[in-house]
Amino acid sequence: MSFGCEELSDVVGICEKSGYELHFSRDLKILGAAAKVGRRAAPNRFCAQPMEGCDALPDGSPSRLTAERYLRFAGGGAGLIWFEAVAVVGEGKASARQLIITEENVESFRSVADAVRKKAFSENGHVPVMIMQLTHSGRFSRPDSTPRPIIAYHHAELDGRHSIDPELPVATDEYLDTLPERYAKSAMLAKKAGFDGVDVKCCHRYLLSELLSSFDRVGKYGGSFENRTRLFIDCIDAIRAACGDFICGSRLNGFDALPLGFSCGKDDYMKPELSETLELVKILRAHGVEILNITSGSPYYNAYVNRPNDVDRSEPPLRGVSRMLSIAGEVQRCVPDIPVVGTGFTYLREFVPFAAAGEINAGRCAFAGLGRMSFACPDYPKKVLSGEIPPADLLCVTCGKCAGLLREGRPSFCAVRDKGRPPNSRRLD
Ligand SMILES: Cc1cc2nc3c(=O)[nH]c(=O)nc-3n(C[C@H](O)[C@H](O)[C@H](O)COP(=O)(O)O)c2cc1C
Ligand code: SF4
Repeated sequence: MSFGCEELSDVVGICEKSGYELHFSRDLKILGAAAKVGRRAAPNRFCAQPMEGCDALPDGSPSRLTAERYLRFAGGGAGLIWFEAVAVVGEGKASARQLIITEENVESFRSVADAVRKKAFSENGHVPVMIMQLTHSGRFSRPDSTPRPIIAYHHAELDGRHSIDPELPVATDEYLDTLPERYAKSAMLAKKAGFDGVDVKCCHRYLLSELLSSFDRVGKYGGSFENRTRLFIDCIDAIRAACGDFICGSRLNGFDALPLGFSCGKDDYMKPELSETLELVKILRAHGVEILNITSGSPYYNAYVNRPNDVDRSEPPLRGVSRMLSIAGEVQRCVPDIPVVGTGFTYLREFVPFAAAGEINAGRCAFAGLGRMSFACPDYPKKVLSGEIPPADLLCVTCGKCAGLLREGRPSFCAVRDKGRPPNSRRLD
């Protein structure tokens, strides 16, 4: 039994009573249907969401632990594997153990990508679409595990929370001007490593995401909507120009859910005001973006928005799930020809397949993204596609321990369901 619900009808009842818009379907056929992503086809509708393992080797290449995580996802059967945040510049790493792709280590990424395809094919008879997330951590940069923030602008509340000196200079236009080339370079390396595409990460208040709300910044990256989205679009254009036939996507915040944030209501920042988000996704489509992954909030500010859970009950978690999937639905309606990955399913535990099928059938997303659930039960897609609904005692309990490990700069894994793994299997080598 999960969150007080024994049956799907109990979950439906809570949603109806509380006015949460969530769609459920007992017919799960759609989950096994292929879906186009650019010129490729993903064999099913499950997406293993990007989740940093904080287990890269010192040169930024994948370690044995990194490879093992992706082999578990590959064996688990997701049709779309969205590889975690990979830094485009050293100073933009979120930790000393974040991945970074370079000329020197590109072959190590290639080995992981090859091994993932091989494992997926041998276990499931299909090959997943693989997208690499490209990031600059901006305000949350900790390249040597000490905070070294690179901020788009000062934000009183976020500065206060992270002890950012009010006198810290903001990133200059000249610095930002250098980044499209760096994103394009990383994308070319991702292509060389055998990935199908990249994600220009613009969420969770990392650098490009923070710029979307740089209302008071002066110069070409602040103020108007065109200025605030400029660097993001320039990065996409640079990738499209450099990489040719290669998927360019983005993980985008539907809204930030914080004061003065992107697409937040003026009087109530917890209320999404999506006009700019929707305008932006139409522009992204015009610039050749072929897949979107919609999320919200920031793990550093409002983790309950970003990862609905049973620990921080700032709001009923089902409200958070419904909000995030409703925003994905708005985006999907706005750009129906681009597949949208919905975020926030994990909280639903054994009811995930019914919500995944319901949301996809309702046209609110094309893929069901599984974040924490991919750590806790990597085989969830495979089991569902073979007709089995895994019981709650194999699933994520939304305790937040994996994210806690990440914040401590330690390799993240499911601290609840991974207990059987010998302790030395979590050591870096
Ligand atoms: C340990 C951990 C690492 C994460 N790393 C990333 C990341 O690299 N990039 C990203 O966009 N989101 C990251 N996320 C957020 C997840 O992709 C996902 O959006 C979030 O967990 C909510 O989805 P869920 O309810 O299915 O878990 C991370 C989450 C966790 C718990
Ligand atoms: S550690 Fe907790 S939140 Fe993370 S995957 Fe495991 S059960 Fe879920």
